[in-house]
Amino acid sequence: MILELLEWIATPCPWSARTNRLLAAQIGIRHRAKRCRAAWNGHLEACRKFVADSVGALPADENLVILGSGHLNDFDLQFLLRRFQKITLVDAVHPIEIQIQASLSRGRLRLIATDLSSPSAEIEDLVSRSSWSISSCLFSQLPLFSNEDSPTLFDRHLALLRKSPRAVLITDVAKRLGSGPWQSLIENHPLPHPAAEWLWTIAPAGESGPLVEERLVHAFVMNG
Ligand SMILES: C[S@@+](CC[C@H](N)C(=O)[O-])C[C@H]1O[C@@H](n2cnc3c(N)ncnc32)[C@H](O)[C@@H]1O
Repeated sequence: MILELLEWIATPCPWSARTNRLLAAQIGIRHRAKRCRAAWNGHLEACRKFVADSVGALPADENLVILGSGHLNDFDLQFLLRRFQKITLVDAVHPIEIQIQASLSRGRLRLIATDLSSPSAEIEDLVSRSSWSISSCLFSQLPLFSNEDSPTLFDRHLALLRKSPRAVLITDVAKRLGSGPWQSLIENHPLPHPAAEWLWTIAPAGESGPLVEERLVHAFVMNG
C-alpha cells in the first residue's frame, strides 16, 4: 500500500489520470501482475505469440503504435524493437519504468499520454501513418473510466483501428466467477469471429474474492 502511494506520487502524468483513477488502476495492475504471475503466464504468452505471429519476425523499416500500452506486460518488447524501427506507446498514463526505458531508447520508443476514449486528430493521424497498430487488453476497459456509453466507445475504438494499414486487437470479451455463467463484457457489441481465443485466469481464488475469476480473450487481425 505504501509502495503504491509512493508510486502514485512519483509518476509524472497528466492530472486527469490521477483524478479519474487511471493512475491508481495502472499501479494496481503492476502489483496484481506480480501476485498473479503464475496464473497470468498463459495469457501473457498467448498475447505475445499472437502479436509475433501477426506482425512476423523479419525486421523492417516500419513503425508500430501500441494503444493502452501500460506496463507492456502483454508484449515482448525486445522482439518488437528488432522488428520495428520506431514504436509509439499511447496510454492515459505511462508507468515510471516505461518512461525511463523510453528516455534511454535513443528515440526508438516514443510516449504519448492521452485519453483514448476520444482519440484526438493527432492520434488518428499517428494510427493511419503507422505500419501496424496494436490494442491489447484496453477495449473492454474503455467504459470503466468514461461517462460515455459503451457502444459509442467501442465503435470509436474500432473506427480508430480501421484507420491503421494493419491492426491487432486483443480483448477480454466475457468473464465468469467460479463455475458460474459467462457474462459479456462487450454487451450489445458483438465482434466478428476471432482468429484466436484463450482463457485468462485474471484472479485466482482468494485474489479478489473466494471464487476464481476467468476471462475469455479474443484476438483479431484487422485490415490485412
Ligand atoms: C489492462 S491494462 C493493459 C496494459 C497493457 N496492454 C500491458 O501490456 O500491460 C489497460 C491499459 O489501458 C489504459 N487505459 C484504460 N483506459 C484508457 C483510456 N481511456 N485512455 C488511455 N489509456 C487507457 C490503462 O492506463 C492501462 O495501462
